[in-house]
Amino acid sequence: METVNHQRPRVLTGIKTTGTPHLGNYVGAIRPAIEASRDSRRESFFFLADYHGIIQCQQPELLQQSTLEIAATWLALGLDPTEVVFYRQSDVPEIMELSWILSCVCAKGLMNRSHAYKAAVADNEAAGEDPDFGINMGLFSYPVLMAADILMFNATQVPVGRDQLQHIEMARDIAQRFNHVYGDCFELPEALIEDSVAVLAGLDGRKMSKSYNNTIPLFLPEKKLQKTINKIKTNLLEPGEPKQLDDSALFPIWRAFATSEQSDYMREQFAAGIAWGQAKKELFELINDHLREPRQRYQQLLESGTQIESILQQGAERARAAAAPFLDQIRQAIGIRSIA
Ligand code: TRP
Repeated sequence: METVNHQRPRVLTGIKTTGTPHLGNYVGAIRPAIEASRDSRRESFFFLADYHGIIQCQQPELLQQSTLEIAATWLALGLDPTEVVFYRQSDVPEIMELSWILSCVCAKGLMNRSHAYKAAVADNEAAGEDPDFGINMGLFSYPVLMAADILMFNATQVPVGRDQLQHIEMARDIAQRFNHVYGDCFELPEALIEDSVAVLAGLDGRKMSKSYNNTIPLFLPEKKLQKTINKIKTNLLEPGEPKQLDDSALFPIWRAFATSEQSDYMREQFAAGIAWGQAKKELFELINDHLREPRQRYQQLLESGTQIESILQQGAERARAAAAPFLDQIRQAIGIRSIA
């Protein structure tokens, strides 16, 4: 079978539809992805991974709300759905079909080695539970569906966080296995891991993460944003006492939103002993200026589910235009074909 050749390298990434995006997600993933999507030498596919979402979230209203909020977030921050193919995984049934096909060439032993699955088993064992307590097949086969997401579009570059590297390697393994059994069909994807993007610390100084409950949500209303920024942990140095840049999460967050002049300015302020209260006030103003317009757009978008739905439907149409003929070829290759 012939390998599909694209003129432009295809970049694809998925966004799980659980949780509320926070400043760490914005700086570490959303902002660089949107910037990269403006590069016309590459073709970008971004999608909402809602069938991955149901592994974790079995509350229908929550899942739906999350899908709306995450789509609105990306659009409000400037993702251009005419440039990028922006769709919802569940609107492209070809992906699910491919997922089954891939699961039939994927070794079970490969899935046994998955970090996420092993971590869940380890937690159970530590708690004295049955090793598979609470683990559904969706979690176990998570990497197969993720491989289908990627291989369905023959994407070669997959921007992800370091924690997802194993999943991309598994997608390569699965693609190689398929190619070996049925002839070359899939390109082998590669992870794009940007080590240069900032990993923001959260309110308590540890990595900003939902699981540490230390996040600053991206689109908090102004007052709440200010309150939350005031909770950033600092030390007991008084106004007038010089402060180190790594005394708290404050300066790294500042730098992630500042121009280089603004960074220099705050560096001097720290050396000159700026009061923590004042530094927090200035940080709030900086972030608030940055987010004011996108936040307005976000609020408008949230109220217009129909507009987002129609954007996603158009995205799905474009995605399916690529996926459907390719899936036909794949079915031919595996012998699921007309007997006439
Ligand atoms: N597993 C990814 C995450 O948790 C989300 C995801 C699903 C994804 N399918 C994908 C990322 C395909 C890249 C490509 O962040």
